[in-house]
This record gives sequence, structure tokens and C-alpha cells, in this order.
Amino acid sequence: MAGRILLTGGAGYIGSHTFLALRAAGYDPVILDDFSNANSDVPDRLAHISGAPVAVLRADIRDESRLRQIFADHDFDAVIHFAAKKAVAESVAKPLLYFDTNIGGLLTLTTVMAEHGCKTIVFSSSATVYGEPDETPTPETAPRRAINPYGQTKIMSEEILESMVKADPDWTVGILRYFNPAGAHPSGLIGENPRDIPNNLMPYIAKVAIGELPEIQVFGSDYDTPDGTGVRDYIHVEDLAQAHLLSLQSLLQKRKSHLVNIGSGQGYSVLEMVKAYSRACGRDLPYRIVDRRPGDVPIYCAKTGKAEEILGFRSQYDLDAICASSWRWISGQN
Ligand code: UFG
Repeated sequence: MAGRILLTGGAGYIGSHTFLALRAAGYDPVILDDFSNANSDVPDRLAHISGAPVAVLRADIRDESRLRQIFADHDFDAVIHFAAKKAVAESVAKPLLYFDTNIGGLLTLTTVMAEHGCKTIVFSSSATVYGEPDETPTPETAPRRAINPYGQTKIMSEEILESMVKADPDWTVGILRYFNPAGAHPSGLIGENPRDIPNNLMPYIAKVAIGELPEIQVFGSDYDTPDGTGVRDYIHVEDLAQAHLLSLQSLLQKRKSHLVNIGSGQGYSVLEMVKAYSRACGRDLPYRIVDRRPGDVPIYCAKTGKAEEILGFRSQYDLDAICASSWRWISGQN
């Protein structure tokens, strides 16, 4: 067995796909989740796909005494820390909730990890730390700028982890700055399915495709981009899961921290996404151009060379594969 790994938020969208990648690579992943943003049937689905029981701990990462008990009961070799809140608009309305969960949670988790001599962590960061970048594709050296409390929590978390590494070289930290995760597992059994009206483009398009929502709203067509709509770097969640595996392996083997962008390096506009999804589901999806969404940036696209150089990571799946897997998942849900 390659090692026992705690996945906080492991029943969520990215955590569940990473669980499968870790198990396939011979690790012993354990899920910790409070199920505030994950379906309770995810562990059963993971067990079904991987053909083995799934260890699940229902807990809140801010519950220090519970975390102590969990670390005392298990000998974890590393943690992949997904558990956090991630809705930009909600973070503007409820900043304290975001600081409490994302920063308080990280502090509690790393304190308990250190007490138990577990000092290896992969952390979910985001391209949001670039604010509105001056340069695209954006390299990791671009300045960090927060444009909302969610972004602030990701920048602060990176800084906290960097200070920990400086103070104690036994800590090894992998910071992964995700661009726009999309797609679903090839089995069609796990994927992203927000309970409410989705904030993000891909799950919104998926709900229009299955007829749960009437039309896609395209937020602005007057950006300085080729067709005027926002451009993003969509990365297949299966690629993202692989990136976590490579990050973990690098930390455990080389004992050296890293901070890398995880994207495909390729940007697509909102209209290109609508077209690609229409191809996947076999009908032209209805859309309407509406006003810009406040706080949106025109383009996010990753410079990807550093992840390739340090982790050997390169995305494998293209846009059609992303849309096809999303459609397989969402169309099997009802
Ligand atoms: N968009 C629409 N209609 C929608 C939803 C989105 O036109 O209904 C547009 C947005 O204006 C943007 C693009 O689609 O141009 C992507 O928007 P998303 O909401 O899917 O994603 P964002 O890039 O705004 O944000 C995501 C994550 C953030 C993260 C950011 C940076 O939600 O947490 O990527 O990578 F910080």
C-alpha cells in the first residue's frame, strides 16, 4: 500500500474523482466530509466504481477535538485538503463564513496535522488568486490580487502554507491553482450536480441540456475577447484528479514543496462552450445574451509549463471529452 491519505471534502466534486485516482494508484484514501455540499450516496457510488468499500468520516474540519480523535485513530501519510466554500457571490454576502471555513478550517487542520507529525498537504487553490491578470496565459509568478473574500481566503491560505514551510522545513506543501474544473467521471456515476441554480457555466449548461432550466444566460458579449464573451481554461476533472495524484507523489518522494497552475492552457469562450455542449447532447441549446456579471474578468487561461516540468502533468482531455462526460453524467441523473 502506497500510503493512507486523508481527503477533506473527499465526497465533493473534485475530491470524489481524486479518491478514485488515488485508489487506482494503490493508495488508501479516507474521506472526511460534512456533506454540506456533497450527496450522501457518493461513497456508495465510489465503492461501486472501485469495487471496494470506502472509508468515510462525517466531520467538520473546524471541529478540532474530532480531528484530533481522527488523527489519533489513523496513521495518515498526507492530506489532500479540498474542504472549503467556493461561491464568489456568497463570499461577498457572507465573508465571515468564508474566513471561518476556509481559513479557520485550514488552521485547525494543519495544527492537528502537525501535532500528529503529518506534515504533507496538497491544497486546492484557484486561478482566482490572480484577480484580473495583466498577462494571459497567466504564469505562477503573476501577482496575487483578491477581488472578493473568496479570493482573499485562497491568497491567505497560500501565504499561511508558505509561512509554515519557511518556519519548519519538515512541511511539504503542494499548492494547485485550479482553473475551471469541468466534466465528469467516464462511468457517468459521479459528477457535479449543484442542489440550487448553478453559479458556474458548465453545470448551468448541463441543466439547460436536461431541460431543468429554460436557457443559458451569457453574461456579456462586449468583452475584449474574440467573440466578446468571457474566455476560460476548462480542465477535465479527470485531469485534475491526476494532477492531485502527481502532486502527492512528488511531495512524498521528493520532499519538496511546489506551487503550480492546473489548467489545459487552452481558453474557450462562453459561446464556444454552448456550441460544444450542443454537439455533445445532440441539440442546439437555447441561450440569451444578458448583462455582464459584476466582478467577472474577461479571460483566465493558465500557463502550464511549470506543472509539466515539476509534476510531469499535462491535460489529456479536450473540450469534446469534457462535454460528453458531463452529458453522460447529467442525463443519467433523472
Ligand atoms: N457565465 C455565463 N453564464 C452563466 C455562468 C457563467 O455566461 O450562467 C460565464 C462567466 O461570465 C464567465 C464564464 O462563463 O465568463 C465562466 O464562469 P464560471 O462562473 O463558470 O467560472 P468563473 O471563471 O467565473 O469562476 C470559476 C470558479 C471560481 C474561480 C475561477 C477562477 O467558480 O471559484 O473560476 O478559475 F475562482
